[in-house]
Amino acid sequence: MTSAHQGLTGLLDTEAIRKDFPLLDRTVHDGKKIVYLDSAATSQKPRQVLDALNAYYERHNANVHRGVYTVAEEATALYEGARDKVAAFINAPSRNEVIFTKNASESLNLVANMLGWAEEPYRVDHETEIAITEMEHHSNIVPWQLLSQRTGAKLKWFGLTDDGRLDLSNIDEVITEKTKIVSFTLVSNLLGTQNPVETIVRRAQEVGALVCIDASQAAPHQVLDVQALQADFVAFTGHKMCAPTGIGVLWGRQELLEDLPPFLGGGEMIETVSMHSSTYAPAPHKFEAGTPPIAQAVGLGAAVDYLSAIGMENIARHEHAITEYAVRRLQEVPDLRIIGPTTAEDRGAAISFTLGDIHPHDVGQVLDEQGIAVRVGHHCARPVCLRYGIPATTRASFYLYSTPAEVDALVEGLEHVRNFFG
Ligand code: ALA
Repeated sequence: MTSAHQGLTGLLDTEAIRKDFPLLDRTVHDGKKIVYLDSAATSQKPRQVLDALNAYYERHNANVHRGVYTVAEEATALYEGARDKVAAFINAPSRNEVIFTKNASESLNLVANMLGWAEEPYRVDHETEIAITEMEHHSNIVPWQLLSQRTGAKLKWFGLTDDGRLDLSNIDEVITEKTKIVSFTLVSNLLGTQNPVETIVRRAQEVGALVCIDASQAAPHQVLDVQALQADFVAFTGHKMCAPTGIGVLWGRQELLEDLPPFLGGGEMIETVSMHSSTYAPAPHKFEAGTPPIAQAVGLGAAVDYLSAIGMENIARHEHAITEYAVRRLQEVPDLRIIGPTTAEDRGAAISFTLGDIHPHDVGQVLDEQGIAVRVGHHCARPVCLRYGIPATTRASFYLYSTPAEVDALVEGLEHVRNFFG
């Protein structure tokens, strides 16, 4: 029998890669092999990362930047070594520009709070504006709403076109001389859309606004070069890129990090403390109060090594081929409507859809009975659902270990859902 995916090019050797991911081998519901299509929510973890975590705890566990004994120095070297790896992975000009946080949400909240407490010229107040987009994850909406409520700054946003892209037709009205910060996602977690960074950055630079990019759905999947992006801040999370949960990154331009005030106070972020006042350590430590997520950072370093060894260009090529195939196959399913771009160009590997009037939670449940794991709901991007007049979507998302056979399994699974609901 000829399979529908014969002839796809650019695929990785998934047979070898999948051996690195123990969870992909497990079964659910009486022996059904798992088809994991929820990597946009969190990726699975390769053995190499799990081994690095174990080795850290078994041999090197101590607090960092504090002890003078051997194990503490090893822990510090591993933690700071992870920072070097991340800096190289994103082409940061300096390792001091890489701040470890607990996730992308914390990274974005950190930017909003730095600006909220900043002096001129960065200060956000009632005479200034903040620009975001309607396709943001809640973590790139709520921190700006909070900042706007606290300072009186006006919150503005780009709307969406019917085909799931940013409507930039009024770019000069959304980003104005009053705009202090423009914050937007590189790739939408719900629509999959890849946004036109250059156009937005150019306009922001024209008016002297800072630019913050949420790269949570980009860093795991494509080459992320913070210098090429020409942004001021880039946020992303580790757990979507093969690392453990509990570790995120905020990259920021060094001169900004030097000028901007800290958000959290505590141990290790200071230079001196008296009962009257304190002075702060230079970045990145100024923004890393308290004991940091040490093992998680070490895990992120191992994940970066793992992804780099395969090559981010190769991963992007693989996902493009899978996404192109999935978009094509899904459109063959009767009553299925893709919410977002319906071509594989300028999009990431998360595909949201509705299936007739079957509620996505029902779709997800019937797929789960077949071993297929997808995410259903508003995906923490509720304004997108409101924009398209739907309560929720079903989302399938792919990664370096995803195979065309898994796309076929999803399509068959959806046929089963349709039959089940008549
Ligand atoms: N932000 C993650 C998602 O889109 C959790 O599923």
